[in-house]
Amino acid sequence: MCGIVGYVGGRDALDIVVEALRRMEYRGYDSAGVAILDGQGHTAIEKKAGRLENLDKQIATVGRDSLAGSTGMGHTRWATHGQPTDRNAHPHVSLDGKIAVVHNGIIENYAPLRAELEAEGVEFASDTDTETAVHLISREYTQGATAGDFVASAYAALRRLDGAFTLVFTHSDHPDTIVAARRSTPLVVGVGDGEMFVASDVTAFIEHTRDAVELGHDEVVVITADSYTVTDFDQEPREGKPFHIDWDLAAAEKGGHDFFMLKEIAEQPAALADTMLGHLEDGRIVLDEQRLTDDDLRDVDKVFVVACGTAYHAGLLAKYAIEHWTRLPVEVELASEFRYRDPVLDRSTLVVAISQSGETADTLEAVRHAKDQKARVLAICNTNGAQIPRESDAVLYTHAGPEIGVASTKCFLAQIAAAYMVGLALAQARGTKYADEVAREFAAMESMTEAVREVLDTMEPVRELARSLAHHNTVLFIGRHVGYPVALEGALKLKELAYMHAEGFAAGELKHGPIALIEDGLPVIIVMPSPAGRALLHSKMVSNIREIQARGARTIVISEADDVAAQTVADHFIPIPSTPTLLQPLVSTVPLQVFAATVAQTRGYDVDKPRNLAKSVTVE
Ligand code: F6R
Repeated sequence: MCGIVGYVGGRDALDIVVEALRRMEYRGYDSAGVAILDGQGHTAIEKKAGRLENLDKQIATVGRDSLAGSTGMGHTRWATHGQPTDRNAHPHVSLDGKIAVVHNGIIENYAPLRAELEAEGVEFASDTDTETAVHLISREYTQGATAGDFVASAYAALRRLDGAFTLVFTHSDHPDTIVAARRSTPLVVGVGDGEMFVASDVTAFIEHTRDAVELGHDEVVVITADSYTVTDFDQEPREGKPFHIDWDLAAAEKGGHDFFMLKEIAEQPAALADTMLGHLEDGRIVLDEQRLTDDDLRDVDKVFVVACGTAYHAGLLAKYAIEHWTRLPVEVELASEFRYRDPVLDRSTLVVAISQSGETADTLEAVRHAKDQKARVLAICNTNGAQIPRESDAVLYTHAGPEIGVASTKCFLAQIAAAYMVGLALAQARGTKYADEVAREFAAMESMTEAVREVLDTMEPVRELARSLAHHNTVLFIGRHVGYPVALEGALKLKELAYMHAEGFAAGELKHGPIALIEDGLPVIIVMPSPAGRALLHSKMVSNIREIQARGARTIVISEADDVAAQTVADHFIPIPSTPTLLQPLVSTVPLQVFAATVAQTRGYDVDKPRNLAKSVTVE
C-alpha cells in the first residue's frame, strides 16, 4: 500500500527512482511522483494521477534535463486521504519548495496538526494527511533550537506524529542526506557501493544491491551515499538488522509471461518445494525462528488462525489439518473482526497469523491484541523481517519468492503448506502423531510439487472454457470439506481480477437459500471431494450437482481424473490428480486461478493491478 523509495549516490537518481517505482507499482497505482535534488539548492517535483505511465509521459514532456541530480525519491500511491488526483499525488513540498516528503500509511492526528499549522498561516496544497509532516519540518527548520538543522528538524516533526506510517524527507539545501522513518509500515535500507537506498520493499533496489538492512518499529534512518545511521524517534542509537536477499532481479521480473500473476501461477511447484525445504530434519519438523519450545506447544489447548482475504482461506484449510492431526480445537477468524469481539485468549492459546506481506494492518493488530492477552503467536509470512513476524513469538517463512501480482496465488499454496507444517509440529510436540507418521505426511506434501506441475501442464481447456464464459455476469463456486475454502478462494480470484459477481458456498448450504440464484445457463464451478477418500461426501455432492442441474445450471466440475460419477453430471469436466484429501486444495485451486486470470484477460483487464486494490493493506 503505497510504494516509496529514496536514493543518494553518484548516479542519475531519476532513472533509479522511476525504475524502483515500476517494480513497486503493485503496492498502489492511484498516482506516482518523483522529487529530484539538483545539488544546488533546488528540488524538482513531477507527479501525476493514475499509473506510472502517466508520470513517464509527463517527464518526457517536461524533459529529463529539468530532473537531473543524484539524490531523489519517488512514490506510487494507494489513496487513503484525498482523491487520487494530481493535487494529492506525492511528493508534497514545504511552502518554499525546499523540503519534500513521500508517505505510506496514515498520520492519525493530522487534523489537529493541520488546524494548528493553518492557524499559523500555512496554506495547504492538498487534501492529504501527508502534507502536515512537511509543513511541520519546515516550521522546525525555520525557528527555534532546530533552525537550519534538517536532520534535527525531521526528528522534531516526527515526534509529533501519531499513526502507522513510513515517511521519507529530503531538503534541497542538504542534498547528500535523506531522512526516513517507520512506525509499523515497512521500510528497508539497501546498501550499495557508494550509494544508499531506502524503500518499502527490496524489489525497489534488487537490481543494484542484495545487501539490505531491516528496520524495526519506531525507527529512523539517516542515509548518505556511504552511511546509514539508525536511531529511535528520540535519536537514541538502534541497530538495524543486516540481511542478504536470497533472490535476484530475475525473480522480480516477468520472465517472458504477459503478467506477473501468470508467472507466479507457473512458479507454484517451486514455491511449494522451497517452503517445505529443510523443514524435516532427522524425522522432526523444524520451524524457522522457533521462539516457542516444545513445552509451549504442549501447553496449547486452543488454536486461533487470524488472516485476511486469500490468507484467511489458507487459514480455513489449516483448521481441517490441525484439528485432524492434533485434536486441538481450531477457530479461524478474519483478522479485521478478531480483536473487536473480545475473543477468549490466554497463555494456552496459540494464535497463528498468516500474512504474505507481513504488513497487513488488520492482521498486525490482531497479533498485538493476542499478545496483550498473553496468547502465543506464530506467524506464517513470505516477507523477511516484516512487522508481523517481528512481533510474533515464532515464525515460519513461506519461501515463495516475491509475489508481485496483486492477487495472491503462489503464496496461497505456500501458506497452506506452511500451516500444515505448523499442524505437524504441534502433533509431534504433543505426541498425537508418531515420528514416522509425521514423516509420511510430510513426504505426501512434498509429492504435491509434482502434482501441481501436472495440473499446470493441462490448463489449456480451462483457458478455453474461461474465454467462452467471460461474458457472464455471475459465476458461483461450491465445495464441501476442504473444497469449501477452495470455492471461496476461486470466487475471490474471479471477483478481484475480472470484476465479475462470484460467490463461493458450502455445497450443503445451497438448498438453505442460495439455490434461488440458479437460473438457466448460470455457470457453477464445483470442487468435488475425493471419491475414494470422502465417499459419503462425494455421493452427496453428486446429488447437489443434480439439484442445480435440474434448475438449469451449467456445471463445471473439478475432480480426480477417474471420477466417472462426477463426469456424468459435468457439462465441463476439469481433471486433477488423485491426492490425499487434505492436500487436494493444492491442486484444485490451480484451475480456479487460471480460470479467473483468463476471464480477466478476455475482458481486457490488467490482471496484475486490479482496480481499487493494492498488494499490501497497511490501513485498517
Ligand atoms: C487476494 C489477496 C488478498 C490478501 C490479503 C491479505 O488475492 O491477495 O486477499 O490475501 O489482503 O494479505 P497478506 O497475506 O499480505 O496479509
